[in-house]
Amino acid sequence: MVLDIDFVRAQFPQCANDPERVFCSNAGGSYMARQVIDRLDHYNAHTRVQPYYAFSPSREAGEAMDVAKQGWARALNIGVEELTIGPSTSMNSYVMAQALGASWQSGDEIIITQQDHEANIGVWRRKAEEKGVTVREWAIDPMTGLLDPADLYALLTERTRWLFFTHCSNLMGTVNPVADIVRQVRKQSAARVCVDAVAYAPHHICDLKALGVDIYLFSLYKVFGPHQGILYVNQEQANELQGQSHYFIQEVDSKRYNPAGPQHAQVVSCQGVLDYFDVLHRHHGGSGDDDPCDKMEALQRLFWAHEKQLTAPLLDYLDQSSHARLLGKTHCNDGDRAPTIAFKPLRKSSAEVAASMDQDGIGTENGDFYAPRALEHLGIETGDGAARISLVHYNTLDEVERILASLERAL
Ligand SMILES: Cc1ncc(COP(=O)(O)O)c(C=O)c1O
Repeated sequence: MVLDIDFVRAQFPQCANDPERVFCSNAGGSYMARQVIDRLDHYNAHTRVQPYYAFSPSREAGEAMDVAKQGWARALNIGVEELTIGPSTSMNSYVMAQALGASWQSGDEIIITQQDHEANIGVWRRKAEEKGVTVREWAIDPMTGLLDPADLYALLTERTRWLFFTHCSNLMGTVNPVADIVRQVRKQSAARVCVDAVAYAPHHICDLKALGVDIYLFSLYKVFGPHQGILYVNQEQANELQGQSHYFIQEVDSKRYNPAGPQHAQVVSCQGVLDYFDVLHRHHGGSGDDDPCDKMEALQRLFWAHEKQLTAPLLDYLDQSSHARLLGKTHCNDGDRAPTIAFKPLRKSSAEVAASMDQDGIGTENGDFYAPRALEHLGIETGDGAARISLVHYNTLDEVERILASLERAL
């Protein structure tokens, strides 16, 4: 079974509205599926009132929010009480730093990486400094930008409280083997594990109980949906973490870590992403009765196979080019590299390359991608940063041909 790309693209109005553009800035934010737009429109046209009161549009609005929360809890194989839908991943991690940090003590240790987006570094560093907690850094290879789990295991001690790392680098596109790492960490220590999956979730929605993590975060505006952050907090943690909402709603699990309060229409439209996955799954032979996690696995197989085809020619080209330094792995095996391809142009600035590609109708990215620490460790000056081509399953092989021709001119 291969992905029916025409069917996929028909689900994204922006593909039809801007047909000449090659959109390869998906790791910044993806197009929105029509099912999400439909949910937003319906909410705003019919039930845009304060939800959960007794009158009918209000009741309907509350029910639609519950549908979205229950749907995402099922897709992630977690309890609905373990799910918070907040404004963004950066905001969710900021809130969690207050929740976790409340019990940190001088002499405790945490581990962060050199590979992460700042959203999964800065908040923990700041809280650690405030509390006298030692920060240990899991270093990347300065040439490739990759993390070696063996280096992590050497950093764990009996004082390690938390480990923070990324499921997938938003620069290197590397997928870190989360389940294996969590298993080993559990054998060696009592450390809790928090994973940033913002760069991974557009390619696969995981069964979180199978991964075994304690906290997991990603952003739906990069997963074809609204600007919302998904936050999973393992319920076993609840006693250790300080609630961050008004005192009288802290016992309501979905409100405990969301001092911003829910953005009603946006929360409702989160269900649209699942509607889209459902439509896609059925179109490719699935049944509506399939287990939600099996459905995500089946979609992942379709996505990865297609994304691998898109990625390989770009990796080959950049790896062999004397005009660019490719970051991360030069090859993509099953599920170990997302189609997020960053490189440092060697004869032009990243800004010039992005501007040149724009002339060819290619929407790409340049800068530090809020991962300046990783760039610095790679020896890349953060002012101009790197260039990045980030693809998802709705990109096509024809588009990759156009990107390659444009890259040749730009570099
Ligand atoms: C890997 C990664 N983590 C975290 C974030 C922050 O997500 P948000 O924009 O929802 O705060 C981003 C955003 O680009 C990201 O790429």
